[in-house]
Amino acid sequence: MAIEIIATGRATPPRRISNAELAEKISTSDEWIRSHTGIGSRYIADEQTATSDLALQAAINTLSLALERKTVQEHSLEELALTLDMIIIGTVSPDYYGFPSTACLVQHGLGALNAGAMDISAACSGFVYGLETASGLLCMRQSRKRALVMGAEVLSRLVDWDDRGTCILFGDGAGAALIEKRPDGKEKRGLLQTVLRADGSGAQSLVIQRGGSRNPYRRGEIIDTPPHVQMDGRAVYNFAVKAVTEIVDKLLALEGIGIDAVKWIVPHQANARIVAAAGKRLGIPAEKFFLNIESYANTSAASIPIALDELNRREEIRTGDIIMTIGFGGGLTYGGNLIKW
Ligand code: COA
Repeated sequence: MAIEIIATGRATPPRRISNAELAEKISTSDEWIRSHTGIGSRYIADEQTATSDLALQAAINTLSLALERKTVQEHSLEELALTLDMIIIGTVSPDYYGFPSTACLVQHGLGALNAGAMDISAACSGFVYGLETASGLLCMRQSRKRALVMGAEVLSRLVDWDDRGTCILFGDGAGAALIEKRPDGKEKRGLLQTVLRADGSGAQSLVIQRGGSRNPYRRGEIIDTPPHVQMDGRAVYNFAVKAVTEIVDKLLALEGIGIDAVKWIVPHQANARIVAAAGKRLGIPAEKFFLNIESYANTSAASIPIALDELNRREEIRTGDIIMTIGFGGGLTYGGNLIKW
């Protein structure tokens, strides 16, 4: 069986904040942010918008593209939503902690009455993990055919806006891929390989310390800051360069191909310097890596599907192209997918 991506979509909040605008509020500069990260701006949600709102919009945009490009036989969004067997969302900024899952809120919003729905907690690797999970679920049962795999975040709610070392890095957004199980054709297509890895020994280098069962807020406590991302930037940087290098090598070896066979490497958009350092180590030209971090900053689990959707809508991915995704982030988690479009 082949698992193919038959449509993609994305959504961002309307407000885009440039580095210069940030520098009016915190002690930083456009020059520092660009030279250390490659980020030029980020989208930030208004107070009324939660993760499921962005996710639902990205889901609608995905299904609409499938209808528009006729990669499905259904004729309306409602009809198409009813064919979904599973909705999976990678997120670390769900609407609610614990439950309900963000995926359930999207399932209701879409009217996907025949779908199971759950979130995946794998931080910035959430989409990579989600794609493999959904693929496994579709392949397990003959009756399952379609799934919506998403990454969605409102990270602006989870950063300490007084910490210039982290708050400049992140942005809000959602991305999605509609996947379908199809019989194998003559050529091997769809999701070719996936590697999933974790290194829990680095758990504390990227962590939201407060609010969970380890370190809950206590009755009567005076709370200065909401739960927020704490990061050992250097440690995460070193881990990420190693993770990208390892995953590229592993995916190529598993499929038995060279890097020339790959059209695009779509890495998690955390820092352009991480990607440049890994590319240099691997001897892969920078043009092979697709980067849009300049506009979006780090949208965690959403960054890979947002990038895939940009490429897909610009028709810079065509049928038969091989795409490699690489995720890495909190957990620590990392991994990648090799996809023949
Ligand atoms: N603006 C201006 N100066 C800043 C700044 C900002 N936004 N953030 C930090 N600085 C300062 C520091 O205070 C420090 O000043 P000092 O030398 O006077 O003490 C200096 O810049 C260097 O700080 P440092 O933290 O060593 O910078 P760095 O080169 O390691 O870059 C990161 C910091 C966060 C960009 C980098 O470590 C990184 O990208 N790490 C990976 C982060 C990541 O990708 N996380 C998500 C993974 S999913």
